[in-house]
Amino acid sequence: MSLRIAAGAEGLEAPVEAPAIESIGIVGAGQMGNGIAHVCALAGLPVTMIDIRPEALETAMATIARNMDRQIGRKLITEEERDAALARIATGTDYALLGGADFVVEAATERESVKVEIFKALCPHLKPSAMLASNTSSISITRLAAVTDRPAKFIGMHFMNPVPVMKLVEIIRGIATDEPTFRAVERLAHRLGKQTATAEDFPAFIVNRILVPMINEAVYALYEGVGDIRSIDTAMKLGANHPMGPLELADFIGLDTCLSIMQVLYDGLSDSKYRPCPLLVKYVEAGWYGRKTGKGFYDYGQDPPAPTR
Ligand SMILES: NC(=O)c1ccc[n+]([C@@H]2O[C@H](COP(=O)([O-])OP(=O)(O)OC[C@H]3O[C@@H](n4cnc5c(N)ncnc54)[C@H](O)[C@@H]3O)[C@@H](O)[C@H]2O)c1
Repeated sequence: MSLRIAAGAEGLEAPVEAPAIESIGIVGAGQMGNGIAHVCALAGLPVTMIDIRPEALETAMATIARNMDRQIGRKLITEEERDAALARIATGTDYALLGGADFVVEAATERESVKVEIFKALCPHLKPSAMLASNTSSISITRLAAVTDRPAKFIGMHFMNPVPVMKLVEIIRGIATDEPTFRAVERLAHRLGKQTATAEDFPAFIVNRILVPMINEAVYALYEGVGDIRSIDTAMKLGANHPMGPLELADFIGLDTCLSIMQVLYDGLSDSKYRPCPLLVKYVEAGWYGRKTGKGFYDYGQDPPAPTR
């Protein structure tokens, strides 16, 4: 099934066929993968989510159920809607499970070599019409598309964290992405209740091109002793009206992901203003990735979380 949608604001251009997306595959069941599964299942779409680690799938299903319970508490959904949505999510560790999906979104670790291996392994299992996206925060969509057998059907679909709460989806066209794929993914985002912003395929796109250098600058401010962790976060919350301080936000995103994004900016734009702060590197080397590992700029083993410097 496909829909004819008028291209162009005036509808003067030829209509574009936008293939329907009625089933979803997700690769990577981390904080983003489980959020994407959550919103797709609630929107009535059958979802198959895979991960290399079975324990990640168990954690993901528990997280989705807990987050849906929270939505019930806020009267955003009913118990029946939760039960129906959870029943729409299947999980496994085998790429072959994604053979029937109309659309597969990759949300695995932010490392280009990991994503390249996934796409190479995944493509032979997909049906010819399947469209493919990466939820990457920063890596070139054009370069990822080039390792697949379907660059025209490949696109960037960048959800924000936490997916069930955040309103934006950034859509990124690779050089080869065709218009029907763009339209189909835009329509999917709207079906999930999201608004879209379109970014060109430059390192880190729009949101992270602006956000992550700010976080990196906050880490420099800490590194150079301009302020301590609490001062920096308080200053930006109350002084710039940000809902979270930059170091708190870095812990929320994941310091490994923040560092990867800075490296992509530094390598891709060859400008020293994007050099990752050595203190950020040190935290990542320590395995202190933020909330997901229990410790980053704050220690989440304590209540309330305590600064780690
Ligand atoms: N964290 C954020 O705030 C945020 C926001 C937007 C986009 N993203 C992007 O989303 C992606 C995932 O980020 P995350 O925060 O969910 O990371 P995460 O570390 O929480 O989860 C990554 C998951 O990928 C799995 N994985 C690794 N290799 C795999 C493979 N070969 N096959 C299947 N699964 C594999 C891991 O086991 C893990 O469960 C990254 O590209 C990241 O840049 C993150």
